[in-house]
Amino acid sequence: MPRHVAVIMDGNGRWAKAHWLPRTAGHRAGVAVLTPLLEAAGEIGVEVLTLYAFSTENWGRPETEVDSLMSLFLETAKGKVTELNERGARLRFLGRRTHLPVAVQGAIEEAEKLTKDNSHLDVYVALNYGGRAEIVDAARRMMQDGLKPEEIDETTFASYLYAPEVPEVDLVIRTSGEFRISNFLLWQIAYAEFYVTETLWPDFSPEEFCRAIVSFATRSRRRGGI
Ligand code: FPP
Repeated sequence: MPRHVAVIMDGNGRWAKAHWLPRTAGHRAGVAVLTPLLEAAGEIGVEVLTLYAFSTENWGRPETEVDSLMSLFLETAKGKVTELNERGARLRFLGRRTHLPVAVQGAIEEAEKLTKDNSHLDVYVALNYGGRAEIVDAARRMMQDGLKPEEIDETTFASYLYAPEVPEVDLVIRTSGEFRISNFLLWQIAYAEFYVTETLWPDFSPEEFCRAIVSFATRSRRRGGI
């Protein structure tokens, strides 16, 4: 059983195009997938789920799409956080918060505060997140703290990441058939297994999530050994 599953939710735009809808409708359909997925993850016994919602590179999308994604995050926070709280999810956010709209920052803080004592499932949402940015931020904070070069090893470095409490990623799921990592959790995926599916994110089902878990369970993880 993977303890930590990280998900790259890709293909919303292509799903919308295939349905003759605007891209924003694809993102909206992508949100609808979340509740059943989180429910399945919690039931199966996954401890941590990390979702890639918005990358540091996504600011390069047209302003209208960025604005509608930010509105959607806010709307989703308002509509879903209470429900997720009742289901025992602990919500945390990864990324550079100061660049996000103030209202989104407020919603993030509220969600974290409301759900902080829950323990059924940890849900991390990567928002304005970049794997390289995370590594750079860790290095900066180590320098600010005055660490000497000889004090820095892998354990120290990992303790400066955005969420040092989280176990390493066991399984990365990527939808829409792309075989790339797109700057997601670069440090944490060192020994992760990959599951790539052609399914577009709005069509991703709890059944397919279970198939990914079964696929993981059949793999032999050697971590450099034999
Ligand atoms: C990738 O599809 C998806 C995104 C950049 C946004 C992901 C966001 C959501 C699923 C909704 C919100 C999530 C939360 C946690 C509130 P794409 O637009 O790159 O699709 P394409 O490659 O087909 O164009």
